[in-house]
Amino acid sequence: MHKITIAIDGYSSTGKSTVAKQLADWLEYVYIDTGAMYRAVTLYAMENGFISEEEFDREALIKKLSEIHLEFKKSSPTAKAEIFLNGKNVESEIRTLDVSEFVSPIATVSEVRKKLVEQQQRMGSEKGVVMDGRDIGTIVLPKAELKIFMNASAEQRAKRRYDELTERGDHVTFKEVLKNVQERDHIDTTRKDSPLRKAADAIEIDNSEMNLEDQFHIILQLAKDRIAGR
Ligand code: DC
Repeated sequence: MHKITIAIDGYSSTGKSTVAKQLADWLEYVYIDTGAMYRAVTLYAMENGFISEEEFDREALIKKLSEIHLEFKKSSPTAKAEIFLNGKNVESEIRTLDVSEFVSPIATVSEVRKKLVEQQQRMGSEKGVVMDGRDIGTIVLPKAELKIFMNASAEQRAKRRYDELTERGDHVTFKEVLKNVQERDHIDTTRKDSPLRKAADAIEIDNSEMNLEDQFHIILQLAKDRIAGR
């Protein structure tokens, strides 16, 4: 069957990765979670003392960028690919609220974006890819045949994120999570380099009032139409 490239962008915690993964499984495409790459660089910066509540040493991080190696690997053919930072599986560590708090400033650093975008473009150079992030339809894969832009209210997104974090045992309050969602929205949309914005040819989906199943079927239908050349 004819294969296409699918770009899914949008605000944080809109369920981009859930639907991207469902689509990739259904279509037997490769799924690439670019947020995980920015999160892994953030974890590296935290572990090396380049970023904390008090300070962010951009120059020190930039100097060490060539020492950061990111890879996606699957533990079985049907499993979700997990991210490895310099050979270590960090899939779970990158999902904490601490990493979420520092990731947006890290994602404003042009040198970081350049390095990650180049790697993402290499990974997305063959058709049969679903990639999610903030700048996939605009910068990374501007020729993607299907572009989706996902949105939902900040409260709805914070509630989903709060449920996810507390379910895995993290001690967080709803207020903290909502504040993090709003701060990330602000930084992601106002940064100078590749701010989050909808590509002119992207289809916007607001899923505040939509369940996962309905959302999946709407997006799958759009993908099938594009595959058929419609
Ligand atoms: O999708 P996520 O919440 O895991 O992404 C984490 C952060 O990384 C998000 O706040 C913005 C940044 N990001 C980015 O700037 N560009 C991307 N393509 C993906 C993520």
